[in-house]
Amino acid sequence: MDMNVFIGKVPKAELHLHIEGTLEPEALFRLAERNKIPIKFDSVDALKQAYQFNNLQSFLDIYYEGAGVLQKQIDFYDLTWAYLLKAKEQNVRHVEIFFDPQTHTERGIDFETVINGIYDALSDGSRNLGISFCLIMCFLRHLPESQAMETLSQALDFKDKIVAVGLDSSEFGHPPSKFKRVFDKARQEGFLTVAHAGEEGPPEYIWEALRELKVQRIDHGVRSLEDPSLIAELKRSQIPLTVCPLSNIKLRVFKTMQEHNFKKLFDRGLCLTVNSDDPAYFGGYVAENYLALQNAFQLTRKDIAQLAINSFEAAFINRDKKDTFIAQIKETMAE
Ligand code: ADE
Ligand code: ZN
Repeated sequence: MDMNVFIGKVPKAELHLHIEGTLEPEALFRLAERNKIPIKFDSVDALKQAYQFNNLQSFLDIYYEGAGVLQKQIDFYDLTWAYLLKAKEQNVRHVEIFFDPQTHTERGIDFETVINGIYDALSDGSRNLGISFCLIMCFLRHLPESQAMETLSQALDFKDKIVAVGLDSSEFGHPPSKFKRVFDKARQEGFLTVAHAGEEGPPEYIWEALRELKVQRIDHGVRSLEDPSLIAELKRSQIPLTVCPLSNIKLRVFKTMQEHNFKKLFDRGLCLTVNSDDPAYFGGYVAENYLALQNAFQLTRKDIAQLAINSFEAAFINRDKKDTFIAQIKETMAE
């Protein structure tokens, strides 16, 4: 089996995916028309031209603006459904999706409009596409702690729909410790926790996410390599890193894929997973991320299978379900 085909075929979980980051330029234009929202680009091509980023902030500015076309529950449903169809094509069998309620509540959209649209599509995806799911609510770290606390209160009415809370948006100047009390409360309420850390920010932010937010996973975490004691801790604990290779190149965390530190982290024995982050903006869904790594580092089928196994090991699903998926990965290996 050709490597490309193998990557597409092997069962995978995706654990680091911002649903707002799956808004393809064509869909953005369609929604802008449907909702009569003015946008400052004349064409899909002109919009695509603007997707050239210098760093995380330059991306976030465009990403938050793009999310402005999402107005009604059906818009959130359509957005999520389109992602699930893509995931199905690439044999993604389980998804853990981030959503950013504050991106929407800040502009007057109700929390329930957002979560119900996303959740209904995920439920339909589970029933009709066989893709299981968890929903992770992220706090925008550039906003004050008080607003995160308010968002957490709103989420309590939807506790049955949200498995974990996370932390995203502009990393520099917004350390995880800023949200310690919010995460303490979230854990008391029974939520699992994850956080973006060490994407652009220093290893110290990863330590804070582990020690102060008590996270089950680190999103990105690539700057951990700068701190040998942190690497030793991540290896010992097997706390997974949800790495997003194409994102890291687009946001210039690394200049080229060959210069990405993925292989170094992998060879140190960390639990790494491969994910797409914001695929509509970064040029690829999860299979394209696996393929980019495979090309850059000549990963073997065994490496690819190990990364797929890690994606289920790192997922918020029970042992039985993990074992079922892992057995299917081994069957694909044997084909
Ligand atoms: N929100 C969407 N994508 C993000 C990323 N890569 N880092 C931080 N916040 C984000
Ligand atoms: Zn992210």
